[in-house]
Amino acid sequence: MLVSAEKVTKIFMGSKVLDNVDLQIEKGDRIAMMGPNGAGKTTLVRAMLGFYHIDSGKISVNGYDPVKHRVDVLSDISFIPQLPPPVKLSIEELLLYIERSSGVAREQVFKEAGRMDLDIEKHISKPFFKLSGGMKQKLLIAIALSKKSGLLIFDEPTANLDPKGREKFYELLTEIDTDCSTLFITHRLDEIEGLVNRKVYMDLGKVVEDEKI
Ligand SMILES: Nc1ncnc2c1ncn2[C@@H]1O[C@H](COP(=O)(O)OP(=O)(O)OP(=O)(O)O)[C@@H](O)[C@H]1O
Ligand SMILES: [Mg+2]
Repeated sequence: MLVSAEKVTKIFMGSKVLDNVDLQIEKGDRIAMMGPNGAGKTTLVRAMLGFYHIDSGKISVNGYDPVKHRVDVLSDISFIPQLPPPVKLSIEELLLYIERSSGVAREQVFKEAGRMDLDIEKHISKPFFKLSGGMKQKLLIAIALSKKSGLLIFDEPTANLDPKGREKFYELLTEIDTDCSTLFITHRLDEIEGLVNRKVYMDLGKVVEDEKI
């Protein structure tokens, strides 16, 4: 079991954003997670990554508590957030940092980005936050795909991509190692239907449907 979330409740400002939710992710799962805005999808993923303390329940990732063992948990996960973080580092500094902390070679990142038509070297001295929305997304995707992780989590990764970028992105996804498990949060099932083997629907802080396909 890669991820086990049991009876997880998260309260934000008095309202139950996650309501006794259960979700297990096994090796080999390729999940499309769907559900209306505000359903709690991002909150559940962020809780799995140890970004939030939960109010009750239990989460373990590769056997670790994500809050107590954040580094161990994150070492085997590639995560692309819904909103790019406001990183002030230049691309150069960011890649150096990632190379040192996660062993991701910059050449690999250049290659993956190039396949989405993003020429990183052209922008290497720019601060990350000054890239366009789609460029940020492409760079984060390139980094995530370059890092070899057991679990890839994408929180609506194509929201900012132009149609061509989107097409290239899906092409890259077909090449992901089959050993790798994936969780995509998406509002467009049609785009990833061929890439997933399980559909999870969330609504009002609960998993309301979970089926293998
Ligand atoms: N840091 C926070 N502080 C207060 N409320 C929050 C916080 N993060 C999320 N929420 C609330 O939790 C609820 C669920 O938000 P979440 O981002 O998990 O939804 P989502 O399913 O990812 O939606 P979307 O499809 O719009 O991305 C929302 O009502 C949101 O306002
Ligand atoms: Mg979200």
